[in-house]
Amino acid sequence: MLLTSLSKLLLLPAVLRTALAQNTTSSSSGACNNDPSLCSRQYNEITHLGAHDSPYLRDESTRFSTSGNQYFNTTIQLSAGVRLLTTQVHSRNGEWHLCHTSCDLLDAGTLSDWLGEIRDWMEDNPNDVVTVLLVNSNDASASDLAGEYEAAGITQYSYTPSSTEGTLEWPTLQELINADTRLLTFVASLDDNAAAPYLLDQFNYIFENDYDNTQFSDFSCAPSRPSSVSGDASSAISQGLMPLMNHFLYEEQGFGLQVPDEGNVTTTNAPGSEVGMLGRAADECTSQYGRAPTFILVDFFNVGPAIETVDALNQVSNPVGRRSVPETVQTQSSAASGMVRVTASWGCLIVAAMLVSGAA
Ligand SMILES: *[C@@H]1O[C@H](CO)[C@@H](O)[C@H](O)[C@H]1NC(C)=O
Ligand SMILES: *[C@@H]1O[C@H](CO)[C@@H](O)[C@H](O)[C@H]1NC(C)=O
Ligand SMILES: *[C@@H]1O[C@H](CO)[C@@H](O)[C@H](O)[C@H]1NC(C)=O
Repeated sequence: MLLTSLSKLLLLPAVLRTALAQNTTSSSSGACNNDPSLCSRQYNEITHLGAHDSPYLRDESTRFSTSGNQYFNTTIQLSAGVRLLTTQVHSRNGEWHLCHTSCDLLDAGTLSDWLGEIRDWMEDNPNDVVTVLLVNSNDASASDLAGEYEAAGITQYSYTPSSTEGTLEWPTLQELINADTRLLTFVASLDDNAAAPYLLDQFNYIFENDYDNTQFSDFSCAPSRPSSVSGDASSAISQGLMPLMNHFLYEEQGFGLQVPDEGNVTTTNAPGSEVGMLGRAADECTSQYGRAPTFILVDFFNVGPAIETVDALNQVSNPVGRRSVPETVQTQSSAASGMVRVTASWGCLIVAAMLVSGAA
């Protein structure tokens, strides 16, 4: 991939090389979410690439934890084109932490620190619209979560729609950018958001297919949640719910513990048309829904690369302002060497296995 783009670059005239270099080093005015053609499109009418469990890293910082879903942190994800970030929120010692299934398994720090990282990125990239999806694992209230938003200084960027349920009346990206309300937050679930109306109950606005898959043949576009539209895509679409397509695999680790399936991800995230591939699933869901998914959520987002499928759906062929992920050796052998250390805390895994719940 890198070699291909490098050789293409060398063939270009010098003046174009300069333009390209500028576009990859500065946020390009005139583009919204990396392309001028997206500015006039409604928020719900484009496809946003999502990093599933964005802060749970499989890198040196977690000693290559097998609970990690991504190789690169949230900042790098955003710079590479990811525009939806998901995480779980757990209560730990009176604080709200980003733990994966259990805080003993993987704790990626506090929600407010992570939101601060997102705020920093958004301030550096004023033409970008970002979506956060919080899995509310321990039933934080709207004011609990709002406290984290305040601490992070990100409340001011939050968008509040006029409708409290499914709607087709979303602003365009340019309108969100002009108003500087470029952050959308969905929470699964939040019954009462009176204390912070910008925290949107996910299932009032979004439907999603099943996320719990272990085989390529398991992937299905059929709506799974909310239960009111289970199996009924046309009802979900006609209610104005936005489609979120989960497309990642788990592998069984024993004791009922499921971890992100790293071994098959080059297939899972591929743009191609074979069973299990992202490209095929995106085509199938687009055809079943009569429209492209609004969100596509993947593990190890840089593999595939998953954004290729998203760009194709958005009809973006020359994205501007993206940064490639850093070059590090992210091979399975490096992950495997980390596994040895992870196995040392096997007792903790067993405890965690007993705690495994349905939260994605
Ligand atoms: C760089 O970005 C500008 C503004 O979006 C665009 O007009 C121009 O065509 C881009 N240049 C290249 C080489 O992609
Ligand atoms: C994200 O990762 C990069 C590369 O490892 C690092 O330089 C940067 O400090 C990290 N950012 C945050 C907020 O952790
Ligand atoms: C994933 O890869 C492993 C071996 O690397 C294989 O045994 C397994 O069947 C694959 N899973 C799927 C869903 O194909």
